[in-house]
Amino acid sequence: MLRRKQTTSREESAAKKSNALPQFAESTEEIRDRALIWMVGTFLAPYWVQLVVVFVLLLIVSGLSLLLPWLIQQAVDGPITSRNIDDLIPLGIVYFATIAIIFVLRFAHTYLLQTVGQSALVDLRQKLYEHLLRQDMRFFNTTPVGQIVSRMTNDIEALTELVSTSIVVLASNMITLVGIVFVMFALNWRLALLGLAVMPVMIAGTVYFRKKMRSASSLYHKVVGEYLAFINEQFNGMLVVQLFGRQQVSRDEFDVANNRLRSVHMSWRDSFTAYSSMLQILTTVGLAIVLYGGGQGVLAGWATLGMLIAFIEYMRRSFEPILMLSEQVAQLQTALAAGERIARMLRVEPEIRDPAAPVPPTNNAPAHSFTFENVTFSYEEGHPVLRDLNLHVQAGQRVAIVGATGAGKTSLAGLLARFYDVKQGRVLIDGVDVRELSLADLRARVTVVPQNPYCFNGTIADNLRLFTPSISFEQMRAAAETARAAPFIERLPGGYDYELLPGGANLSQGQRQLLALARALIHSPNSILVLDEATSSIDTETERCIQQGLEELFKNRTSLIIAHRLSTIRDADRILVMQRGRVIEDGTHDELMRLNGAYARLYQRQFDEAQSEKSVEPITGTD
Ligand SMILES: Nc1ncnc2c1ncn2[C@@H]1O[C@H](COP(=O)(O)OP(=O)(O)O)[C@@H](O)[C@H]1O
Ligand SMILES: [Mg+2]
Repeated sequence: MLRRKQTTSREESAAKKSNALPQFAESTEEIRDRALIWMVGTFLAPYWVQLVVVFVLLLIVSGLSLLLPWLIQQAVDGPITSRNIDDLIPLGIVYFATIAIIFVLRFAHTYLLQTVGQSALVDLRQKLYEHLLRQDMRFFNTTPVGQIVSRMTNDIEALTELVSTSIVVLASNMITLVGIVFVMFALNWRLALLGLAVMPVMIAGTVYFRKKMRSASSLYHKVVGEYLAFINEQFNGMLVVQLFGRQQVSRDEFDVANNRLRSVHMSWRDSFTAYSSMLQILTTVGLAIVLYGGGQGVLAGWATLGMLIAFIEYMRRSFEPILMLSEQVAQLQTALAAGERIARMLRVEPEIRDPAAPVPPTNNAPAHSFTFENVTFSYEEGHPVLRDLNLHVQAGQRVAIVGATGAGKTSLAGLLARFYDVKQGRVLIDGVDVRELSLADLRARVTVVPQNPYCFNGTIADNLRLFTPSISFEQMRAAAETARAAPFIERLPGGYDYELLPGGANLSQGQRQLLALARALIHSPNSILVLDEATSSIDTETERCIQQGLEELFKNRTSLIIAHRLSTIRDADRILVMQRGRVIEDGTHDELMRLNGAYARLYQRQFDEAQSEKSVEPITGTD
């Protein structure tokens, strides 16, 4: 469909004009109409029986409604002209029965179709959601949440609209229109020609306005999407907006977005109004032609009065499908555009996925070894974050990583959990390449406790159990004790039943970190524990307590602790110093101190600072 592509490029150039609005960075991969129809088809396929029934019902309804004007003609030319009232009664009964049957059949096909549409919608939503769940971190890092939400809501709705109404209305109107033309010619070809005189103008107008309305309508949907994204962004960043007094700027940008919405909608309105006025005028002109020409025909004898009345009725009925068709075509285009966006999202395949034949894990003990073999990794081509990194950690070792912000520590942890794949080299766990393990096995062996943990809307217990009811209260409490989260939880109103706000907004960052630590202990009892600055927002005193609590745990597990406070990692079996994607020092605290390199300098600086702060009474504790 050439036309649609043209519209898209026009939309894009129009959209570029307003640089105040965030633009979706969506892949521009082209989806062919055939692929789109295929996609819609696969979702409708299970319901083909219902769809066939719907189509048959439609045919019957269209046929029956064509019967009505003909019945009027029979009445006018027969009993009414011959003043035979008795013959009028059976015709009246047939007329009434036809209307009744049409009513019942219409109800049946609408009901059936709505059911099919909703079921297909449920399937599609489920499929899309499951597809999104499979995506890797790269996808979620590069796809705005607003865009995903828009796919899951607006676009799916537009597509359902297509399935449950547009296709049917389109089909039934086409059938009716063809039927009307056919019947008109069968009844009286001269009258039919008169009746269709305005048709070419009507079709030309429809084609012209359809193009205008379609481009306006898809532009409108796009602008609505941008508007939603803008609002979402502003409200999420409200703290920054208020803190830096950006209200005026925000208001002005909103003003632009708001007015754009109006102007795009107005341009659609203009086309639609012009179009429907044109149709109305042409309808009247068409009727006038039939009345005038048909009147002559009645007088001249090549038409009857009943025919004339029937024709007027047929014409009235033919304008309706044309109007509906043009509306449906506009909707169809919107739905196709939505379907295209959904199809595009469904086409994204995660880079990180289960191997075809996963290697069964050999080591089911709590402690695992891991190895980085000549690992080079980059998020963006040409900007390596880890460079030719080699590291072997034995099972049960407690390894610490220190290094400047941006050195690549979090990236290293991410590679171990296979959130990303290496560009060169290998990452191994117990001697098996992480790419050969199933993701479930792998993630049962590596747990990362992030610096900025997420809390779900729910109680503290929900967040610890992650909504798994089989985890006992004792189990949860023990983990909370070990992670030193229990004291603060028990002080909260309701304790473990305390309701968290979305994102855990009613906890401090440090408290969220304690929860995340406890959560990791509950859910991954046999994994390599990676603490990625997991206690960075926790005061020194509590951090020391956590260390003591974890001491027991560390004994028979492998752990990787990324930290800035060197006091917490002094006792590690090994300390790695990272700099710009490389490990530059590797050894125990004492060895590195003797080496007198980067670590020694870092340690000395922190030690000095601690000494100078000694005079100040430390204010610690989780209260
Ligand atoms: N998702 C990402 N996409 C692109 N670059 C990233 C991403 N995450 C981190 N980086 C880059 O990788 C480098 C290392 O980051 P990171 O591993 O988080 O460092 P650290 O944890 O040591 O502070 C940084 O320069 C950062 O800009
Ligand atoms: Mg980091």
